Amino acid sequence: MKDTYILGIESSCDETAVAVVKNGREILSNVINTQIPIHTVYGGVVPEIASRNHIDNISKVTKEAINKANIEFSDIDAIACTYGPGLVGALLVGLSYGKALSYAINKPLVGVNHIEGHIAANYITYSKLEPQFLCIMMSGGNTQIVNVKDYTNFKVLGRTRDDAIGEAFDKVARVIGLGYPGGPKIDQMAQSGISNIELPKTHIDGLDFSFSGIKTAIINIHHRNPDVNKNNLCASFEKEITEMLLDKVEKAIEETNSKKIVLAGGVSANTYIRKEFEKLKEKGIEVYMPDLSLCTDNAAMIASAGYYNYISGKISNLSLNAIPNLKLD
Ligand code: KG4
Repeated sequence: MKDTYILGIESSCDETAVAVVKNGREILSNVINTQIPIHTVYGGVVPEIASRNHIDNISKVTKEAINKANIEFSDIDAIACTYGPGLVGALLVGLSYGKALSYAINKPLVGVNHIEGHIAANYITYSKLEPQFLCIMMSGGNTQIVNVKDYTNFKVLGRTRDDAIGEAFDKVARVIGLGYPGGPKIDQMAQSGISNIELPKTHIDGLDFSFSGIKTAIINIHHRNPDVNKNNLCASFEKEITEMLLDKVEKAIEETNSKKIVLAGGVSANTYIRKEFEKLKEKGIEVYMPDLSLCTDNAAMIASAGYYNYISGKISNLSLNAIPNLKLD
């Protein structure tokens, strides 16, 4: 069978990323230009600055991805482009570039939901992984528990009612003085701490999540006592958050009878969360988590998701617009 080459384009937040992926699973190139150092100064992503930097970067990142993959534009079968969810100005840069490229080289455009991309990062990590499975999608902008029925068929079982999990990590980190992005910093601090700080139980019923209560509790503890041990505070925060995640997973397993759990999104890089989810294997549950290099935003995952849309005939037309709050189902 002929190989299929997908060019993936990702610009939904502060990473300008372009990748070439073969047959949905094999990375030929995965170029990421991150703007983290630019936004760190402001303590978070500034949307207009993100868009302007995407414009500066998109062309050179694309050329680099093509060169590293050692292919020509003419070898590409389709262009997969994130069109939501995300920052609208940032999305428009990658999407407009993808549309122009699609027109110029006469190859189909495939619009990809960014969350679908995060899920697909696991298809690259595990060459034999196939749906159906339950996915805990945890990123800076989204937190959902999804029944992945097939490569392009999703049912969201629960979602956050307030902050996304990564947002809670980032906000806690900012207030306790760790800077942006906070997730990796909390991860590091927690590794030298013990989870000995008692926190209120802010779990909610059902399969929806809520992270604002625990975030506020941590911030209040810090404000009341700025000398509180930050390593222990981070460890206690991670422990509580992980308990919430595991509680939802157990409920989703009960509801769906599915014993295959897949992690996705930037927060799935967290050392403690990964370690605790690994333990589910002892209960006979299959557990998958993306390679660390594929947890946070990248275009290889977009190309992989694009591949499955492409082979199932889900081609977009050139009037495709950016949808900042695009849903998965
Ligand atoms: O998936 P992602 O790159 O962007 C979105 O699509 O939103 O996720 C970024 C989020 C940020 O909130 C960042 O702090 C968090 O992932 N993150 C982590 C870790 N690495 C990244 N959170 C906890 N522990 C980590 N090691």
